[in-house]
Amino acid sequence: MLPLLKTRIPGPRSRALARELRRHECRNTTFVSRDWPVFWDRARGCNVWDADGNRFLDLTAAFGVASVGHGNQRVTTAARRQLGRLGHAMGDVHPNELKIRLAAELSALTFGRWNGKSEIRNQNSKILFSNSGSEAAEAALKTALLATGKPGVIAFTGAYHGLTYGALDATAWKFFRTSFHPQLPGFTVHVAPTEAAVRAAFDESERGIGAVIVEPILGRGGVVVPTDDFLPMLRRVCDEHGALLIADEVFTGFCRTGRWFAVEHWGVVPDLICAGKAMSNGFPIAACIGRNDVMDAWPESAGEALHTSTHLGNPLGCAMALATLAEMKRLRLDERARAFQDRLPGRGLGLMKGVELRDASACQRAVQRLLRRGILALGGGEHGNVLTLTPPLTISERELAFAADEIAAAAGQTLTACQSSLEHRPDSH
Ligand SMILES: Cc1ncc(COP(=O)(O)O)c(C=O)c1O
Repeated sequence: MLPLLKTRIPGPRSRALARELRRHECRNTTFVSRDWPVFWDRARGCNVWDADGNRFLDLTAAFGVASVGHGNQRVTTAARRQLGRLGHAMGDVHPNELKIRLAAELSALTFGRWNGKSEIRNQNSKILFSNSGSEAAEAALKTALLATGKPGVIAFTGAYHGLTYGALDATAWKFFRTSFHPQLPGFTVHVAPTEAAVRAAFDESERGIGAVIVEPILGRGGVVVPTDDFLPMLRRVCDEHGALLIADEVFTGFCRTGRWFAVEHWGVVPDLICAGKAMSNGFPIAACIGRNDVMDAWPESAGEALHTSTHLGNPLGCAMALATLAEMKRLRLDERARAFQDRLPGRGLGLMKGVELRDASACQRAVQRLLRRGILALGGGEHGNVLTLTPPLTISERELAFAADEIAAAAGQTLTACQSSLEHRPDSH
């Protein structure tokens, strides 16, 4: 449905809640100003209603999570059923059966498909569950060290892999790193995304490079699609040096870019995949998915896991993830994201688009204007100048057409990328 606004934005209730929030939450967390934020109250499909009853059209899927639509009925039903039965188990001690079902499904969707085998119980890969994308990245980094014995990691300028210390070491953004630099472990070297830079980093490393971690499409870094030879080059160079290729698909995974996983655009099979965000449509669950031989670098547990957490493989999260993945298949969301790729302006693949604006303040103005028009969008890019569009993959053609017009108006005429994309929109009017 299109937006329906009843108050000025933010409305009086959101503004009152924002003042209250400031008294209780660490002041660094939620940005509060006269014009920001709106407090979410409920959501369904591509719509969010705020605390004042205003209806918004969501072009964020809440950080790329709600890919099968907010409040998806099948996911909600699965969650309710599971919560009534078992809401928490003992992840690495006395687990629940759903952990097996989800691990098998994730294997089937990745290495199972890539090896041409679609049976659910394939034995080609294994899973290490976690609670967030950052932790999934760290699980992959630990796996790479165990598998190669080499502690060094190559990551790329503009990369975002999360903010917990291990993940932050791989994240390139100065903004996130500077305050905590004295505590960063420093195993990562950041390089430009070129073959020469990657080869030089391998050659110059004193402690040995065990992994290259890469977002197949830079997500928070401003939706940057690499050149066609970039990922195949990484695969080749990693193989030459006995290093693992880690694809961080936390943002790009699960149909977002028009393929189940973005690496499929380039036919590259990584050794490890980090997945999260859209996996459960809203429960904090993530996974590191790895080739069997690589994952078996972890020793057999003798009673104490080397890497685990209290909520690992939570049954509610597993039930929601299984229902979410089933919905993605039933609705063919990979094909849908591909078919609608050109309906939103900007660069990117599938329904992950970025509209580059002149600078951060132009982007902020566009985001603010869209909010006042009832559209939720986010700024992105290391310099804050990329309007980032990642709607639920269930978004309708009518909603897309409305959003595209509003974006064009909000972005103004400063933007050639936006304009040319709009000109080529099949249903442009
Ligand atoms: C590519 C990528 N990796 C890792 C993360 C971190 O995930 P989380 O915020 O769930 O820790 C993100 C979050 O945006 C991401 O985009």
